[in-house]
Amino acid sequence: IIENIRKYPSELKKSANNLVVFDGSLNAKVIFVGEAPGKEEDEQGLPFVGRAGQLLNKMLKAINLKREEVYITNVVNWRPPNNRTPTDREILEFLPFLQQQIDTINPNYIFLLGNVATKAILSSPLSLAKLRGKWHEYESLKLNKKIYTIASYHPAFLLRSPQHKKASWEDLQMLQKKLKNEE
Ligand code: URA
Repeated sequence: IIENIRKYPSELKKSANNLVVFDGSLNAKVIFVGEAPGKEEDEQGLPFVGRAGQLLNKMLKAINLKREEVYITNVVNWRPPNNRTPTDREILEFLPFLQQQIDTINPNYIFLLGNVATKAILSSPLSLAKLRGKWHEYESLKLNKKIYTIASYHPAFLLRSPQHKKASWEDLQMLQKKLKNEE
């Protein structure tokens, strides 16, 4: 998959330094999906290593998950110029690669971080404020199964708007509960 993404002639490739695909475990039960690489991610070739990544690490730790045991990826795999939001077209271009990653990992849960990931996977016209706080189902045709999915706030958004951390915590706890029941 990584080599196919690298070969794909995206416009974003021209301005980016490094391809950023995933971090974590290929045996993960949970996939976390962000938006696109930022500056640090583009430099290091790894997702969520900057300030938003530090907060994501804390969020994982708060529900007893280690970065090494989950699968962390983004919708778009090259850094958009000046960190602009990926366009709808870019989201659609990279969506098959995200779907392939989900099918390969075969997780039990997907945790969507922010608007872009939510738009890509749930394709709902509703806002994140309306979609968060409940379980959705992502249907993988390849795996022939439905994967429990939560849409919640992006850590970069939480850094700017800490008043939404309480809601984010509730969403994380919903995931923690499901994981506990599986044990
Ligand atoms: N923001 C994202 O959406 N993804 C990253 O990898 C880093 C910051």
